Amino acid sequence: MSASDGVAARAVDVWKTYGSGDAAVTALAGVSVDLEKSRFTAIMGPSGSGKSTLMHCLAGLDDVTRGEVWVGDTKVTGLKDRGLTDLRRDKVGFIFQQFNLLPTLTAEENITLPLSIGGKKVDREWFDVVIETVGLRDRLSHRPTQLSGGQQQRVACARALVSRPEVVFADEPTGNLDSQSGAEVLAFLRKSAHEFGQTIVMVTHDPNAASYADRVIFLKDGHIVRELLSPTADEVLDTMKHLDAPDFEHSAVPGA
Ligand SMILES: Nc1ncnc2c1ncn2[C@@H]1O[C@H](COP(=O)(O)OP(=O)(O)OP(=O)(O)O)[C@@H](O)[C@H]1O
Ligand SMILES: [Mg+2]
Repeated sequence: MSASDGVAARAVDVWKTYGSGDAAVTALAGVSVDLEKSRFTAIMGPSGSGKSTLMHCLAGLDDVTRGEVWVGDTKVTGLKDRGLTDLRRDKVGFIFQQFNLLPTLTAEENITLPLSIGGKKVDREWFDVVIETVGLRDRLSHRPTQLSGGQQQRVACARALVSRPEVVFADEPTGNLDSQSGAEVLAFLRKSAHEFGQTIVMVTHDPNAASYADRVIFLKDGHIVRELLSPTADEVLDTMKHLDAPDFEHSAVPGA
């Protein structure tokens, strides 16, 4: 795989088992997926279906039991500690439900922290574009406690984007936000994919949040069982209800 073939991240027959013997839990049971560059992809599915596990395996935060993971032209599976550290610092960005900002740093310092840690210079032009887009220009010298939840999450978005990673992974980024702030963050994520070419992968439980994505992938019991392209929130909701039905069979779903 190379960076030029339009795929930002790839899972090839990925299995993940936690524990062993009687206590073994199969969180991923043969997941294969290509995540195209510049696309905004949402991952959905019932609690325990493997969403976070898949995201962590794709981002090199967790190792796989079997299969291969690629980010750009880097084969993640098989990387040693040093390679994984470089991958997390240079190739991926993260947005968490809890924002994870450092309270003693200003918004600007939080945003540029990953670059400072990596000993890299801030691309001021790009920094300005990101700041304008998230609308944080007049909040840069504030500390996280002086910002609303929505503003804090926009700082976290800017932090994830400022190093121009291959992929930004977001785990429930709107889970702690009111609907207005959530909509702003989602609009920003969509814009960064479509206008800046940033690849985004987002785990969410919210059909409305998923409707901002170009593609929605549904997991159940560690399998990809369905996918929708540019769905409405209602289509996402219908599919979720279908997955929750007790008589749901993987093989009965078209596109599984
Ligand atoms: N560290 C771990 N040790 C053992 N089992 C785990 C571990 N992490 C996850 N699991 C199990 O793997 C399965 C998938 O978990 P995962 O966290 O990926 O689900 P999820 O789809 O993100 O769920 P949620 O929507 O509740 O966040 C679950 O059965 C979970 O209990
Ligand atoms: Mg989860």
